[in-house]
Order: sequence, then C-alpha cells, then structure tokens
Amino acid sequence: MKAERIAISFQHLHKVYPNVLAVKDLTLDIQQGEFFGLLGPNGAGKTTSIQVIAGLVKPTSGQVIVNGLDAVRDYRRVHRMVGVMPQEEVLDSWFLSVREILVYNAGYFGIPAREAGRRADELLERFDLGEKRSAKVSELSGGMKRRLLLAKALIHNPEILILDEPTAGADVALRRQIWQLMSELNAQGKTILLTTHYLEEAERLCERVAILDRGELLAVGPPAELTRSSHRDFVEIELASSAPRDLKLPGLNYTVENGKLRLAGTLEDEHVLEVLNALAREGVKISAIHAERARLEDVFLEITQGFRK
Ligand SMILES: Nc1ncnc2c1ncn2[C@@H]1O[C@H](COP(=O)(O)OP(=O)(O)OP(=O)(O)O)[C@@H](O)[C@H]1O
Ligand SMILES: [Mg+2]
Repeated sequence: MKAERIAISFQHLHKVYPNVLAVKDLTLDIQQGEFFGLLGPNGAGKTTSIQVIAGLVKPTSGQVIVNGLDAVRDYRRVHRMVGVMPQEEVLDSWFLSVREILVYNAGYFGIPAREAGRRADELLERFDLGEKRSAKVSELSGGMKRRLLLAKALIHNPEILILDEPTAGADVALRRQIWQLMSELNAQGKTILLTTHYLEEAERLCERVAILDRGELLAVGPPAELTRSSHRDFVEIELASSAPRDLKLPGLNYTVENGKLRLAGTLEDEHVLEVLNALAREGVKISAIHAERARLEDVFLEITQGFRK
C-alpha cells in the first residue's frame, strides 16, 4: 500500500518573467511514492515549475510544499529531500574529476568523506562510469554527462527524484537503463517527477501525467484514462471478398474502401466483435486485422492543439 501523504503540492503557483507568464495558477498534488510525469510542449513551464521545487526560482505568487515544508522558506530542508537532474548541464567544475564531483556534492549534504566515497564508487559502477572516474567533465561524451548528472542527483539518497528530460540525447541502451533505474527507485518507494518529450516513455512509466501548455494545467490523470477519453482508436479489417452494400452496423462509424473496412472513434472490444460477427453472417472473408489504440501522443496533440486554437 502506498502512503497517502502528499510529496509535492503546487498551490496556486504563479511565475511571471518579464513579458512571459511561465506558470499560471498551478495547483496540483503529487502523492508520496507516485511516478508522475509533467508533460507539455517547449516553453510550457515544466522546468520553471521544477526549479521552484528545487529552490532555484522564486514564485511570483503561490507556493510549493514539499513533504509539508515550503520550498522557499525551508529551502535547506527541502533541498535534502529532493534530488534534481537538471535539463541543462550544470557540471561546470572543470578542475574536479568525475569521482570528486560526486564526493564533493555528498559533502554539501554533510555525508562523511568515507561514506561519500563509497556512494560515489557505487554510483559510478552503476552508471558504467568506473573507467571515467578520474576524467574531467570536458572529457565525457554527452550521454556520460547525463549519467553523471543522474548519479549526482542520487548521491544523498533523496526520497523525491526530479528528472528533467533524463533521456534526452541518451542512446537506446542508456534510455532503457534509465527507465529500469527509475522503475527500481520508484519500487523502493521514491517519488519520481519526470518530464519528457517521449510520450511513449511517460505512458510506459508514469502512474499519472499532467499536461501543461503555456503555463496552464490542461489535463491530469493516468495515461490510460486520458487516452480512453480521446476518440482516436483505429481498426482496419482487410476483406478477402467484397462486402455487401447493406452491411448493418448501427451506431458504428465505419467506411469500406479498397477492400478495407475501417472503424474509428472510441472502440471497445465488443464493437470489433460486432463487426466481425456481421461480416461472418454475410459470408465475407477476412484476410487481416490491424488495430491501434489511441496513444498518449494522440491525446497530447489533441489537448495542446485544441488549447492553442
Ligand atoms: N530565466 C528566465 N527568464 C525569462 N523567461 C524565462 C526564463 N526561464 C524560462 N522562461 C520562459 O518561461 C517559459 C517556460 O519555460 P520553461 O523552461 O519552464 O519551459 P519547459 O516546459 O521546460 O520547456 P522545454 O520543453 O523547452 O524544456 C518560456 O516562455 C521561457 O521562455
Ligand atoms: Mg524544460
């Protein structure tokens, strides 16, 4: 059973930059132990919202409460509870080695040197950076820098992990490794707040997602619930013989063209069975069936494009 406690509570969060409304009256609760996705087009306000949690940006009004503490007033205590993997690289210590960066960061959180070294080695091993332990950041590839940022976010073993596009620029193997890692950490009880432009990733991992655009919260819910509310399911039945003109399929939105019967809309299994039964009754033979459920990507576009109209 997951705890009912709220890990992150955005309360009427409002952030205005000169000439830009970045976040508009955002109210949203993320439960402890939840795997939550913050989605939205470029410039939607995702990173800004995350930066408020991390104490990097001051709200214009409203607040973010983390485990009952105000992210601005109780910055230090909140800082210890949260690990952030930023979207932009902030590995600017050109004089420290990869391992030293981790140890140094552990020091920020008051972790004793010996323990810091142990954790650094463990994380370097876990992220295949063992061979690069003595390298400088400038000597790392893009994907290696992403892995180091992830290790850095984990060094103080935070209960809340905030990952701003962790898989951007990651190769296939690294992407899968990050998915696996996020799932493991979540299974251990950590709350995960993820932003990503890979909606398939959000669909696969997140228990709930929020869709933001231009600072506004447009939708929130489990991916499966959001896709169910869309009308973009699609089934195509290839007919081996021609369909009679008066095929009766009341209430179903279908077309027959070039030997293919197409159904679209919100489709339940019964609808498809109904069609198959009707075809069987008429003696129409079928050569293939293709089915596609609406994907989060479809719903995302529907919601954000509808909003921008
Ligand atoms: N420091 C800043 N000063 C001025 N405007 C900013 C600043 N940071 C962000 N903005 C603006 O605030 C809006 C939201 O930006 P934000 O970085 O939060 O978007 P995002 O959802 O993370 O986008 P992306 O998917 O591109 O990372 C944008 O219009 C951006 O130009
Ligand atoms: Mg961003």
